[in-house]
Amino acid sequence: LDNGVARTPPMGWNSWNTFGCNISETLIKQMADSIVSSGLRDLGYQYVVVDDCWMNSTRDSAGNLQANASRFPSGMKALGDYLHNKGLKFGIYQAPLDKTCAQYFNSYPGATGAQGHEAQDARQFAAWGVDYLKYDWCSPTGTIDDQVRTFAKMRDALAATGRPIVYSINSNSIHDKTGPRRDWGDIANMWRTTEDITNKWDTGQTNGYPMGIQNIVNVTVPLASYARPGAFNDPDMMEVGRGGMNDTEMRSHMALWAIMASPLILGNDVRNMDSATQTILKNQNLIAINQDSLAQQGRQISNDSTRRVLAKRLANGDVAVALFNQGGGTTTVSTTAAAVGLSGGSFTLRDAWTNATSTSTGAISASVPAHGTVVYRVSGGAGPSPTPTPTPTPSVTPTP
Ligand code: GLA
Repeated sequence: LDNGVARTPPMGWNSWNTFGCNISETLIKQMADSIVSSGLRDLGYQYVVVDDCWMNSTRDSAGNLQANASRFPSGMKALGDYLHNKGLKFGIYQAPLDKTCAQYFNSYPGATGAQGHEAQDARQFAAWGVDYLKYDWCSPTGTIDDQVRTFAKMRDALAATGRPIVYSINSNSIHDKTGPRRDWGDIANMWRTTEDITNKWDTGQTNGYPMGIQNIVNVTVPLASYARPGAFNDPDMMEVGRGGMNDTEMRSHMALWAIMASPLILGNDVRNMDSATQTILKNQNLIAINQDSLAQQGRQISNDSTRRVLAKRLANGDVAVALFNQGGGTTTVSTTAAAVGLSGGSFTLRDAWTNATSTSTGAISASVPAHGTVVYRVSGGAGPSPTPTPTPTPSVTPTP
């Protein structure tokens, strides 16, 4: 979406994965303080997104949304001011139909979705200083045409406020019939590609609830051609630092989100991060690959179901290469400079995890532990071969 924001994947933090509905202004402020003191803000993690359950269960007599007065007693404008004063940006959650997902799926009280109030809610968000809206389809029904119309309505309402606001959408529950089959870049800055993530490596799902890291990668990799400045596939908020995975898997999670040009929206409690978590989330080589100005998503070079190789073209002519071992034991994952689009006779490989550099005449290869991902930034040679003309993506593919 060409609305001036999210020219590279948005980075930040969201309350849902760890806290669900147990949120308050005190909690969000503590999180903001920790994002600053831990150095995460200065690495680019700037959007602090208050997910579902911030609202009162009713609108006021003029139809305006209201914050839950016991958990957000100072109101959302004050929270936005607090975040802005810390050099952070303010994200908020709303749903396009009559209920939010907690209201629809979890019997959370109220029916305060935006339906019929789109322009009013957009103006309210802008007045509160909101910089990012997560807009979450909360119904197991609806056609792709309903979704296109409904998501476009809020896109236009946000544009009419004149405030630059990142627009993050989720076609929820009917992803398997829609998300992977449509390029949403004409409507939103980012769009969920699957059902909700969980802090497990593999749940065996193909696109049902809940999705593990490997399962989400399987769905999101084939959507690479949709990604561009202002428009990104969203494989959901991160589970690094939440337990449920070993360090190798958490490093893979970060590496794969980086190379898939995915929004890096943290889901852990940033007040309590162990050193492994900090090392992973603060990896500047991976952040630079993710935030590269070309904003391309890594393309699949090969996949034999155990060994998967992705390559992401970077603005300075380098190519980031992910050597991903999907299998259960250590194996060697290999590709070549030619296969990732580089020509020439001599290349430098910088390992994104160790910073070690090596030279190569074309082989790109590493021994990778089970579920691990080695990332090399490959430079040199005669520079990248010309970018192939992108194939036009269909706007809507009818559901069979
Ligand atoms: C849906 C979304 C989640 C979260 C919850 C809130 O499940 O996919 O990311 O926003 O709703 O209720």
